[in-house]
Amino acid sequence: MTTAIIVGAQWGDEGKGKIVDLFTPNADYVVRFQGGANAGHTLVINGEKTVLHLLPSGVLHPNVHCIIGNGVVIDPKACMDEITELQKRHLIQDPEKLSISPNAHVVMPYHRQIDQLREAQLGDAKIGTTGRGIGPCYEDKVARTGIRMAELIDEKRLRKRLEKILPIKNKYIERMLDGEPLDLEAIIREYAILGRSLAPYVRDVSADLARACAQKKHVLFEGAQGTALDVDHGTYPYVTSSTTVASGACSGSGVGPTMVDEVWGISKAYCTRVGSGPFPTELNNGTGEMLQKKGGEFGATTGRPRRCGWLDLFGLQYAARVNGLTGLVMTKLDVLSGFKTLSVATGYQKDGKPIANFPNDPTELDACTPIYTELPGWEEDVSLVRDINDLPQTARNYLKFVEDYLGIPITLVSVGPGREACIPLKKLF
Ligand code: IMP
Repeated sequence: MTTAIIVGAQWGDEGKGKIVDLFTPNADYVVRFQGGANAGHTLVINGEKTVLHLLPSGVLHPNVHCIIGNGVVIDPKACMDEITELQKRHLIQDPEKLSISPNAHVVMPYHRQIDQLREAQLGDAKIGTTGRGIGPCYEDKVARTGIRMAELIDEKRLRKRLEKILPIKNKYIERMLDGEPLDLEAIIREYAILGRSLAPYVRDVSADLARACAQKKHVLFEGAQGTALDVDHGTYPYVTSSTTVASGACSGSGVGPTMVDEVWGISKAYCTRVGSGPFPTELNNGTGEMLQKKGGEFGATTGRPRRCGWLDLFGLQYAARVNGLTGLVMTKLDVLSGFKTLSVATGYQKDGKPIANFPNDPTELDACTPIYTELPGWEEDVSLVRDINDLPQTARNYLKFVEDYLGIPITLVSVGPGREACIPLKKLF
């Protein structure tokens, strides 16, 4: 049995979807444990592109059991749309193959509305959210005014909850955000239907996972977003509203930390960020534009161009610490071909002096500048390389430098979008 958590080690969009999908054929269970339809995983399989926002990437494999844990916030409309789309492709035919926790919170229309109106009101100070209602839904979860899947699938309970909650939300929307109030009956009509459609998937996922572990199954936890977007350990307030680091896999699905064997972080060979907030190695120049163009750096969920910069090893070292990484997967190495020299941040300085630890506070981060080490680049196209020994020596040196700096092994290198475009270095399952 192996139980492995895969998390983003940067600001999200590291290519987790492809990596999870790669290991999925040998997994028995794939679990999402946080976030919601703000995530966007682009998978290219046999040349066909699939973008998943909510369902675990494992759904593309008919033999895998997919789980959406209690830590995820579920937009039932987005969820049903994805299920319907996949069913057209003869996937998820059996409802037993997808389990959704009854404790997962539901993203309601007022959450999306509040998210978007608030961002508009914030102007230049906006977070740059995906506008999917994620933050307001998690707020309600903690305030104990949320609606959970168990209520969504029971019309009577849904009505009772909404009758209490909606008038308060409408007051807030109208008075504080100058928005339009929402109609209770219209919401109940739409959401009761969605609840009925999703009911066959709702079951106790913590119990499912305990059984899976007892039967020595392979379980893969699929993180969304990335470490620097974690609500506690990220660059708050420029973060998402969930626990994106590895420990979130336990609380977000109902398994204990002693069940986890491996924690692999995913990092691009460079760095990107969407939305606002500090980004010390950002390149606001032709090099940044080149990375953006070569790497196709446009958001899968919102289509927004991603900010690009050099690899930040100081930040990755922090990610290794807060996640307890046992391995690192490096993606998009092919994008770095053609650069004469490559810079990597190996520290930060503040007031002219190197600092000891990565500061996650944005004000502190703004006051820091990266200390770069320059490494020789390579000209060759590496997208067809499948064996580490066939990489140009300078590319191998780049990977070795990363491993030595972090003190953890690189377990896989990805050199293109397709499933086959990778150099495996360590077996997971
Ligand atoms: P929210 O998750 O929509 O509330 O957005 C909060 C912050 O997280 C914003 O900076 C978003 O751009 C960022 N974010 C949310 N989901 C993703 C993702 O899947 N990849 C990268 N950034 C994300």
